[in-house]
Amino acid sequence: MASTNHGILPDSLTNALCSRLGIRHPIFGLAHSIEVAAAISNAGGLGIYAAARDGPNELARKLSALRDLCPDAPVGVDLLLPTALPGVSTPGDLAAAIPDGHRRFVDGLFDRFQVPPATEGNFFSQYVRSQALFEEQITAVAESRMDVFAAGVGTPADSIARVRRAGMTTIALVGAVKHARKAIEAGVDVLVAQGYDAGGHTGTIGTFTLVPQIIAAAEGRPVLAAGGIGAGSQIAAALAMGAQGAWLGTVWLGSSEHRLPAALTDKLLAATSEDTVLTRAHSGKPCRVVRSAFSDAWEAADAPAPLDMPYQQALTGRLLAAVEEHQIAPLMYEAAGQSVAWVQEVEPVARIMDRLVRETRQSLDSLRPYLLA
Ligand SMILES: Cc1cc2nc3c(=O)[nH]c(=O)nc-3n(C[C@H](O)[C@H](O)[C@H](O)COP(=O)(O)O)c2cc1C
Repeated sequence: MASTNHGILPDSLTNALCSRLGIRHPIFGLAHSIEVAAAISNAGGLGIYAAARDGPNELARKLSALRDLCPDAPVGVDLLLPTALPGVSTPGDLAAAIPDGHRRFVDGLFDRFQVPPATEGNFFSQYVRSQALFEEQITAVAESRMDVFAAGVGTPADSIARVRRAGMTTIALVGAVKHARKAIEAGVDVLVAQGYDAGGHTGTIGTFTLVPQIIAAAEGRPVLAAGGIGAGSQIAAALAMGAQGAWLGTVWLGSSEHRLPAALTDKLLAATSEDTVLTRAHSGKPCRVVRSAFSDAWEAADAPAPLDMPYQQALTGRLLAAVEEHQIAPLMYEAAGQSVAWVQEVEPVARIMDRLVRETRQSLDSLRPYLLA
């Protein structure tokens, strides 16, 4: 096929990191769905399955299914590995530490929104984050046939070493230079500079401010830009800043492969960048989510302060499981970044990827006159 633009094929954006990983576009996508992660990889990017909400047995099964969904393309898995959490715990173990006032507040939400109790559990009601859970999750990852491992929160050196020994490229998401230094010490191969605009757990520094600082601290490692990215012009800007690619989470919530509940999809489609909030009510750590009656309730004057991780989840898990099971629309929410503005329709991952690649190339091309002037 004839090539243009210094050997870059018209429909691709290949660079050195792409060659190293065996992908066509430097576009990385994280999703809590193996179907979405596989579709991102099959569309030429690198799909990362966010597994933090899976128990260990379920995780091994899902990683095996994910591998089968994209036999010919690299794919990865992500875990949250915060340090300083209890060694072993279940929601029951933590019950005694939950203040009565907090429990009454959550009971009040059950009453106010007429939420029937859950008949089935989900991750939030069955597990709490603990070192024992992380150990089992890492074992499932190390024994999987994934190509890439990403650490979302925390970079424990022993876990990073273990998955590197299993042959995986390792990635760490960082929100500040001090986190980048820790990740480098732990031996991580690639850094994701994730700014304040991002969906999910996030720090306080905006993407545009963070990316060049992480590149400067990366000691030559590739850096990806994350947080607030929904358009190719932003990917071009990230490349111009010296990033080797972009890491996106929120845009994939609009993909048809995600099969989100209709009430949640409607909320995401209607949301603008002003409709996300940073709240500790989800997990106990600051997390950007699409605004809902749940986040509003925790902001109200009569609300108690959210508990720290993992107690907040031990407190709210039974409510979140019931909301999911019974589809209580006002209380439904998901992590979402300011990039939710680009979730405007439900469409297949391949179309989202095509748009991002086309827009990035157009933006890069539009810069030529600056060089010719
Ligand atoms: C629905 C959703 C769930 C997320 N879950 C995780 C996670 O489990 N682990 C992780 O490392 N990052 C998680 N993130 C953050 C993403 O990895 C990514 O950094 C972020 O989405 C980038 O900003 P954006 O949302 O504006 O694209 C999540 C983001 C979203 C939107």
